[in-house]
Amino acid sequence: MSGIIGEPDGATPLDPDDLEGLKFKHIKTRGELDELEQVNIQSGLQWLSRIRIKDVLSEEFIRTLHKRMFGDVWSWAGTFRSTEKNIGIDPIQIGEQLRMLLDDARYWAEHEPYPPLEAAARFHHRIVQIHCFPNGNGRHARIATDAYLQERFAHPPIDWAGGFDLMQSNERRDEYIAALRAADAGDYEPLLSFVGAD
Ligand SMILES: Nc1ncnc2c1ncn2[C@@H]1O[C@H](COP(=O)(O)OP(=O)(O)OP(=O)(O)O)[C@@H](O)[C@H]1O
Ligand SMILES: [Mg+2]
Repeated sequence: MSGIIGEPDGATPLDPDDLEGLKFKHIKTRGELDELEQVNIQSGLQWLSRIRIKDVLSEEFIRTLHKRMFGDVWSWAGTFRSTEKNIGIDPIQIGEQLRMLLDDARYWAEHEPYPPLEAAARFHHRIVQIHCFPNGNGRHARIATDAYLQERFAHPPIDWAGGFDLMQSNERRDEYIAALRAADAGDYEPLLSFVGAD
């Protein structure tokens, strides 16, 4: 597979270096890749439900979760990205910016300056904006955000898909990407509404 066609809006294109890390060389289409990743994500979710999570807000958890979700498909799973993408900060800053986010998220859980769903929305936006990994950031961040809600606020997960497939182009995904773009510009209202906070 030399390139991936048919990426929905708001997805990060994979560059040739990232594609080198594909463990299944026979893959021809985006659909085949989605399927393999989905099987891997299911086993990642099983891992997540098995472990007694000690610290969701640690770099180790963030990286291990990504590895558990994508490590059967991509050799770079769980490793921070080293190349620039159309979304995300300079890769050199990922470690430091993630640490700052995890510190902030810990403060939000301990001092509750925001209701749980607002803390979760802010956590989600910041982590996808950092864009820690070459790919899988959206799927990873949605699960990490639910784990944050559950572990730190004893709050049920967000209904991200809302009856749609969030990985395909549809009105729910359009709303999600538009809400993240508004948050990029400092307006969290659309994202709060998306996660059901108001
Ligand atoms: N303007 C933006 N600001 C912040 N985050 C964004 C923006 N646009 C997209 N994103 C996030 O980046 C994700 C896409 O990145 P990536 O392709 O690494 O994730 P993915 O899990 O492979 O994709 P998907 O979410 O489509 O399944 C989106 O799902 C969304 O969470
Ligand atoms: Mg992607």
